Amino acid sequence: MSARTIQVDDRLHDWLLAHSLRDTDVHQELRDHALGLEDGGMQTSPEQAQFLSFLTRSIRATRAIEIGVYTGASAMAIASALPHEGRLVACDISDEHLQTAIAAWTAAGVHTRIESRIGPALETLAAMLDEPEAGHYDFMYIDADKENSLNYYEHGLRLLRPGGIITIDNMFRGGQVADPAVNDEPTVATRELAMFLLDDDRIDYSLVPIGDGLALAHIR
Ligand SMILES: C[S@@+](CC[C@H](N)C(=O)[O-])C[C@H]1O[C@@H](n2cnc3c(N)ncnc32)[C@H](O)[C@@H]1O
Repeated sequence: MSARTIQVDDRLHDWLLAHSLRDTDVHQELRDHALGLEDGGMQTSPEQAQFLSFLTRSIRATRAIEIGVYTGASAMAIASALPHEGRLVACDISDEHLQTAIAAWTAAGVHTRIESRIGPALETLAAMLDEPEAGHYDFMYIDADKENSLNYYEHGLRLLRPGGIITIDNMFRGGQVADPAVNDEPTVATRELAMFLLDDDRIDYSLVPIGDGLALAHIR
């Protein structure tokens, strides 16, 4: 038992990874590739990616949405938990890393489940509201421009079915949400989002200290 979440230092983090990750060479190679990029820290942490996969499979999701693909690590994790005929709509504003992502998804055998849509995600989501699958998605992962996370969440509430789960990354902003001296736009937006989610009675809510803080919204 523990009355509060404990600090995860480097030694414990190493232990966590060694005793929980079910990574393959494809996961490791993609991680290594991203870590070699200038903005490689954007990649979803491996334990969080596996948790997303766990959630996706737990609710037997067949349709999923990701906002913020980058080199494709979290998309690979989510798609791997979908059935063979399942579909992940993977949205990013840029195709700079799309070929890297597709190569990894192909190596992992999940590429046929992933439909990539390039453009501002708000436009992509607005278009999806007019498609027949609207209201029938099961799972959503939001990990893009933080100023728009609340907008993405609102679209998710309309695109997902009751019982679906919306997950939102970087709720801690590296700890800056709790520092009143930090008032940049993404941090202020994340604080406002946290207060909004706390009071939103359309969802059951939990904020999990994994990675950089992951919000879980279960749609009532
Ligand atoms: C933190 S990275 C995503 C990391 C990814 N989930 C992973 O596991 O590797 C954020 C991504 O959001 C994308 N992005 C930023 N603004 C966006 C927007 N308005 N619409 C769609 N994607 C956006 C960026 O191009 C970038 O690839």
